[in-house]
Amino acid sequence: MPEPTSPAAPDQIVVRPAGPLTGRVVVPGAKNSVLKLMAATILGDGTHELSNVPDIVDVTIMADLLADIGVRTERPEPGRLRMTNDGDLTPVAPYEHVERIRASINVLGPLLTRCGRVQISMPGGDDFGARPIDLHVAGLEAMGAEFKFAHGEVDARADRLHGAHITFPFPSVGATENLVCAAVCAEGETTIENAAMEPEIADLCTFLVGMGAQIEGIGSSRLRVVGVASGSLHGAEHRTVPDRVQAATYLAALGVCTGRLEIVDARPEHMSNLLDAFVEMGMHIEATKEGLVARATTRLRSTDIQTLPYPGIATDYKPLIITLLSVANSVGIVTENIYPGRFRYVEELQRLGADIRTAGHHAVVRGVPRLSGAPVRAHDIRAGAAMVVAGLAAEGVTTIHGVHHIDRGYDDLCGRLHAVGADIVRC
Ligand code: EPU
Repeated sequence: MPEPTSPAAPDQIVVRPAGPLTGRVVVPGAKNSVLKLMAATILGDGTHELSNVPDIVDVTIMADLLADIGVRTERPEPGRLRMTNDGDLTPVAPYEHVERIRASINVLGPLLTRCGRVQISMPGGDDFGARPIDLHVAGLEAMGAEFKFAHGEVDARADRLHGAHITFPFPSVGATENLVCAAVCAEGETTIENAAMEPEIADLCTFLVGMGAQIEGIGSSRLRVVGVASGSLHGAEHRTVPDRVQAATYLAALGVCTGRLEIVDARPEHMSNLLDAFVEMGMHIEATKEGLVARATTRLRSTDIQTLPYPGIATDYKPLIITLLSVANSVGIVTENIYPGRFRYVEELQRLGADIRTAGHHAVVRGVPRLSGAPVRAHDIRAGAAMVVAGLAAEGVTTIHGVHHIDRGYDDLCGRLHAVGADIVRC
């Protein structure tokens, strides 16, 4: 598949303060949905058509992994993927793919239920901490799989998985997705209690149903899956759910620049706790037929925020929230409840003059009137986007290095912000 974003694209973004922002921004499809939809095509022979696909590097990485497994990806036009599965699959996910993208773990459930065997490299940690897969493994073991771990590789086998009653101690996104995918072709019925409820999981379940799977309770914390014969699932068409984190990024940019933005295709019902927090901070937000309209007129008010599994405020919004609080009018306390640590970008914000103290999984953010531009680094996708927003709130010039991280999850962040009045250039 051709690279969506040129590999030669410059790796820095230069931002200067600007505002007010005005105009329309269209939110593309969600990275954390489309990668799972792509992995799920392993389950059904035939041709799958995905639309509203974001132009991001992680899609290319997932397409490369699936090509090695035996699923072909074509990009017939921008925003569309055509994926063809002829049923000739090699159930191996080697290190060189798995270390590039966390979502490669999403091939585990589909391959195991389809091929009865998977060899996959252990996914590593992330910049924001360890990311174990014990919940994926325990759930699949309850369905009859056997695992061996050696030399950084996982070898999983199961002649045919069987249904099980699984109660998660914590609603893991990835484990919910893997178990649902494994259950759709398992023998009998699987119930998952305390399942993660993220809109991207509902999107995956809807796609699976389009392929012929039987799933009840979509969008709830209790999913019931009745297995169908392996090989009976077929090609399907699906439109990827819009990206709530990208939508939040444009809202955060508005929050620091002031102005009025129409955020087309945003789904306010998928981000209601975050929108309530933004309103409490002083933004005006209205749901519309097309998405939402937001206005910001003055310096935002500080507030306290904690991250939680959906429908709570997602951890992926947190770097944006801390950036907003850095220039808000008082003190806000942010508590991280999903990852043991996800504060590395705080050092970068401090370089820009933010007053932030972290202790354990808390950050105390004392707003300053203005940040002060400096060179900073994007440590991961979300932290990188937050640096862009911080640059919009900083006097002088902010240069963000490591932009390839942003390209993994953002579809033309620079172009979209520039089109609504931001002083931003990639060079
Ligand atoms: N966890 C375990 N054991 C497991 C699985 C998870 O202890 O078997 C722990 C993790 O270590 C973490 C917490 O549970 O502390 C949440 O993990 P979860 O499984 O819910 O997350 P994930 O599936 O690994 C997805 C997103 C992340 C997002 C989280 C939480 C993808 C590809 N990734 O990860 O997105 O932060 O859910 O909402 O969907 C990003 O897009 O930048 C990103 C990191």
